[in-house]
Amino acid sequence: MKIAMIFGATGQDSSYLSEFLLEKNYKVVGVKRRSSTNTLGRLENIIEHENFSVIEGDVVDPSSINNLVREYQPDELYNTAAMSHVHTSFQQPLYTFQVNAMGMVNILEAVRCFSPHTKVLQCSTSELFGSNYQEENGIKYQDENTPFSPNSPYAVAKLAAHEVMRLYRDAYNIFACCSINFNHESPRRGEEFVTRKITQWIGKFINNQNILPLKLGNIDAVRDWSHAKDMVGGMWMMLQQDKPKDYVLCSGKGYSVREFLDCAFSYVGINDWSPYVVIDPKLYRPCEVEFLQGCYDLAKQELGWEPQIGFEELVHEMIDSDIERLKSV
Ligand code: GDD
Repeated sequence: MKIAMIFGATGQDSSYLSEFLLEKNYKVVGVKRRSSTNTLGRLENIIEHENFSVIEGDVVDPSSINNLVREYQPDELYNTAAMSHVHTSFQQPLYTFQVNAMGMVNILEAVRCFSPHTKVLQCSTSELFGSNYQEENGIKYQDENTPFSPNSPYAVAKLAAHEVMRLYRDAYNIFACCSINFNHESPRRGEEFVTRKITQWIGKFINNQNILPLKLGNIDAVRDWSHAKDMVGGMWMMLQQDKPKDYVLCSGKGYSVREFLDCAFSYVGINDWSPYVVIDPKLYRPCEVEFLQGCYDLAKQELGWEPQIGFEELVHEMIDSDIERLKSV
């Protein structure tokens, strides 16, 4: 039985990835930070599974990472641990660097010293591209050849991790791949991200719980939103290749936050959302990434990966889930 170790065990991506790997008959070891509150909510489907366990460890504490990697000798290691909120990274740049950049070095050092056969997957991000894009026949996109130009402490730290993965691949022959993930959402998405903020607001509104308007920042930003379930399959496929390589994972379609609002509100019968939404300048970022729309041709050609769940289906699933969940609150 293969062993997969996942850092960031309690997050959205890790929960879907763990389910995916358990289906494939892996033994899955999730590593989570210590917390005095219960953070296992997203793992409720699998927490009792005989091949699943959650242990404590922190990517910013090298001794804990070294011990875990030495003890388990995982076949595959997935790093989903991150300070993942771009806006927050402007307020907490040092912490962001510790987790997103140093955390990756800690993991790679543990692998290099104690388990060099382990294949490593890092969740990189489309935020690396910043304002850069390519253009072909009037279509703008980012892919593996688009130069990076990070626009936030979050993205700069993620770029350091991305580069350190390449370095350990070249210098030490470690099987190290970065999955350049565009935005990916689901009913398990954190409530502070824009998609979930919107669907949760609608869930409350439909259940007559809402009194405050929905405050948003830059609603003209364009993002390429996929379902998190689709992304984790692509991440696994990267580690099944003969050679390590980085791939973009995305839907290939960009929508503005405005268009997300259109889709979400019209699903519950509201065609004009403007009376419910207030633009709050505090929610703007000091430096914004205005346009992200990926191209997943390489992943399709070389991994056989394609997203299965479309934008509308994703938005509807998130709204249905929030309406249902908030019924009992
Ligand atoms: N969070 C948030 N809250 N974003 C808002 C709001 C708001 O009230 N109003 C507008 N936005 C805009 C942001 O300015 C951004 O342009 C867009 O909505 C999406 O914001 P987020 O949902 O916070 O995601 P993100 O694109 O910044 O980052 C996510 O995707 C990256 C991959 O592209 C995160 O998951 C990152 O960790 C990930 O790397």
